[in-house]
Amino acid sequence: MPFYRDRIYPHLVRNLGDSCPSREIRGRIVPLAEGKVLEIGVGPGVNFVHYDPARVTKVHALEPNPGMIRLADQQRRRTKLEIEFLDLPGVRIPLGNGSVGASESPARSAGSAGITFDFVRPSCHS
Ligand SMILES: C[S@@+](CC[C@H](N)C(=O)[O-])C[C@H]1O[C@@H](n2cnc3c(N)ncnc32)[C@H](O)[C@@H]1O
Repeated sequence: MPFYRDRIYPHLVRNLGDSCPSREIRGRIVPLAEGKVLEIGVGPGVNFVHYDPARVTKVHALEPNPGMIRLADQQRRRTKLEIEFLDLPGVRIPLGNGSVGASESPARSAGSAGITFDFVRPSCHS
């Protein structure tokens, strides 16, 4: 179903996946990233505006869905970050071992950074 995958799903993820609780959690966790970042499954790129350009030197944005990449490219233009899209599935990452400092989703990054769920629990209710 390429039409659903490329045209509808990306808009659903952008509009429903960045509601208040998610956005608040992204805003607390993503700015902690530093160095070169590999973001797997970038989707519509809603994390981009949360990276701190003073800490992050480059984001490798892995995303196989062309519809997602189109939306993520709009987000890329809202930041000063250097962002390179890798339109590949996560099983074929053309980066060397140890060449990036961070990857994973915000929630998993919180776990690996030792942040407790009390810290990431959003205060908004929707
Ligand atoms: C639920 S969306 C989440 C998007 C984004 N991380 C966010 O927080 O809004 C999951 C994304 O992972 C992507 N994806 C699925 N399989 C993938 C794979 N094998 N490698 C990389 N990305 C993949 C999908 O295309 C989709 O954009």
